[in-house]
This record gives sequence, structure tokens and C-alpha cells, in this order.
Amino acid sequence: MTVNRICQIGDPVLRVSTTDVTREQLETRDVQALVDDLIDSMRSVQGAGIAAPQIGSTLSICVIGVDGNERYPYKPKIPLTVLVNPKLIVLDDETYPNNEGCLSVPLRGDLPRFMNIEVASMDRFGVESVVVYRGLTAGTVQHEVDHLAGVLIVDRIVDSRSMSTWENFKVHDLARFVERIQPAIDATEPKVL
Ligand code: NI
Repeated sequence: MTVNRICQIGDPVLRVSTTDVTREQLETRDVQALVDDLIDSMRSVQGAGIAAPQIGSTLSICVIGVDGNERYPYKPKIPLTVLVNPKLIVLDDETYPNNEGCLSVPLRGDLPRFMNIEVASMDRFGVESVVVYRGLTAGTVQHEVDHLAGVLIVDRIVDSRSMSTWENFKVHDLARFVERIQPAIDATEPKVL
């Protein structure tokens, strides 16, 4: 098990547009080890997701997974999912006001996310799928796919006054936030097409 140091905002690797992984590359020991490192690193810090640039790789791979996560008690469960070369389609213009943090950014803040998206990707074995994500889980997927294009939450936070540390968020905003995003929690359901 390898837990990597997580790159922090200001590190140029977080601003890179990542490169798609070929099937040949995906089969290599190096890329399979990268997938394992992403999973281990995400779990070690109780993250809901992590993207390759956060551990210094410029390949288009991210991982999501939530299961009784201490960091996010309000988040619906997400099975451990490896997304290789994810391509995201927004299904309609419905949005909800999320509040997000990031393992690479020391602050949280409010930002809009689309409620309904569809993602075409491969898993770590090269199996292709198209999955519809809704609500809060759709937000988590949008966050990770943003990382693969070099986009961070600070680029999407509309009102800088919503920014806070995790500790202050818990004290001042968490209860109100969970109430506010209840419709997005209710809407969450992954659906395989
Ligand atoms: Ni992040």
C-alpha cells in the first residue's frame, strides 16, 4: 500500500489538462499501481474522491468512493469506482448550490453543480460504461472530472465570502448546508445505462 503526499494548490501539476490513457497503457504495471495508489491515498485521508494530478500524475484517471466516511457523514454512499478517461455530459440545466472542499485546497466554499450528468468511461480493466449520476454524487464526479482538466474549486466559487476552513464550516455552516442540499441528497442515485 502506497499513500502519496497530496499535491496542494499552487503546484503546477494541478493545473495540467490530463492525457487520455490508452488500453495498452492501462494494462501496464505502472498504471495499475497508479490506480492502487489513488485508492490508498483517497482512503488514508477519508476523501470522497481523488484525481491523478493530486498525486502528481497527468493521466486522465480519478477514483470516487464514499462508505460511512467520517469526513462527510451526510454524503450518500458511492461504491468504489475507478473512472479512466471520463467524458462528462450535462443532461439538463438544473443546478444546486453545493459546498465543496478539496484535498488539495485548504478552504471550502459554495459553488453550483449540475444535478444530472452522464459519464462515459472505462474502469481499471478497460471495461466501458455509461453511468447517469444525480444530485450530490453528480457533484462529486464533476469535482473529480474538473481536476482532470486542471480546474479547482476556487475557480468555481462565485462568492468568496462563502469560503471557510473545514473547522469553521463545521461550526458555522454544516447544519444549514445539509438542510440546503437535501434535495440533492434525495436525488442521488447512480444508474447504469
Ligand atoms: Ni479535489
